[in-house]
Amino acid sequence: MAEAALGRARARTPITRAALPAAATFWFAVMVIGQWAFVYYITGFYAASTLAGDFASWNRHPFVKGHIPGDTIGNLAFAAHVMLAIVITLGGTLQLLPQIRARAAWAHRWNGRVFLLLSIFASLAGFYMVWLRPDGTPPGFEDLSISFNGALILIFAALAWRTAAARNITAHRRWALRTLMVVNGVFFLRLIFSGWILLTQKEPSMLTFYAFEFAAFLLPLAILELYLRARDKGGPILRTTAAAIVFGASAYMAIGVFAFTMIFVVSILGGAA
Ligand code: HEM
Repeated sequence: MAEAALGRARARTPITRAALPAAATFWFAVMVIGQWAFVYYITGFYAASTLAGDFASWNRHPFVKGHIPGDTIGNLAFAAHVMLAIVITLGGTLQLLPQIRARAAWAHRWNGRVFLLLSIFASLAGFYMVWLRPDGTPPGFEDLSISFNGALILIFAALAWRTAAARNITAHRRWALRTLMVVNGVFFLRLIFSGWILLTQKEPSMLTFYAFEFAAFLLPLAILELYLRARDKGGPILRTTAAAIVFGASAYMAIGVFAFTMIFVVSILGGAA
């Protein structure tokens, strides 16, 4: 009896071991495709007009009004913010590729420095836009969530940098992954929002949207912590649970990437919205 149970447990082991790396690979594939769609959207919508100095045309966007007539500093901050967003988004996923880490460590180091530094600059420009821009509206609840997100970017980026400088590679990888999650809060928010619209066929209420704004960076962080704990110290149950959660979150992300592409790339970038 005991031997039979042991035999069954042994037979199960490979699946519980393989599930978590498989879920992580699925997440990475969805993430990369989504990030490319995001870069395509930011570049398509903002790059040409920004480089040509045609800031007024940003306001063709149905939700985001980046241009405020007469606010030169604010407009330049927005211009820097969206241009930096392109480089950051491209660079972030490159950092995860083990092939680059293994075969071109110098490229990993330089891309990492650039990613962290530009994320800090983009966040500082974001703080300026939220708290110092004369956009005629008092600070709102959504300003608190993005500021919390921005504060985490600054703290995590500093810790990722410090641990790399101290050659504490285990801690560095953890802080770098946490930084990647919070830097992509803006991206995840668009996936959550777009996926919701596709699945429910209606826009979220204001309250639900506020919840999305916090979930956009806190949920990926929580899932990352679970993943790291399961990967490093987890038994079969924790590893399988973590794999199921990473897989489920990635499946929702895949729906979000598809919906984001339809709403932001096809409709907004295509000029239909
Ligand atoms: C570093 C990671 C970040 C990236 C990659 C990023 C990316 C972007 C992008 C692409 C837009 C244009 C929005 C669109 O067309 O959909 C945007 C707008 C904006 N971002 Fe960021 N952002 C980041 C962090 C922040 C932070 C930390 C703050 C504030 C503290 C912030 C504040 C803003 C504001 C105020 C806008 C103007 C549009 C609005 O009112 O929603 N961003 N960001």
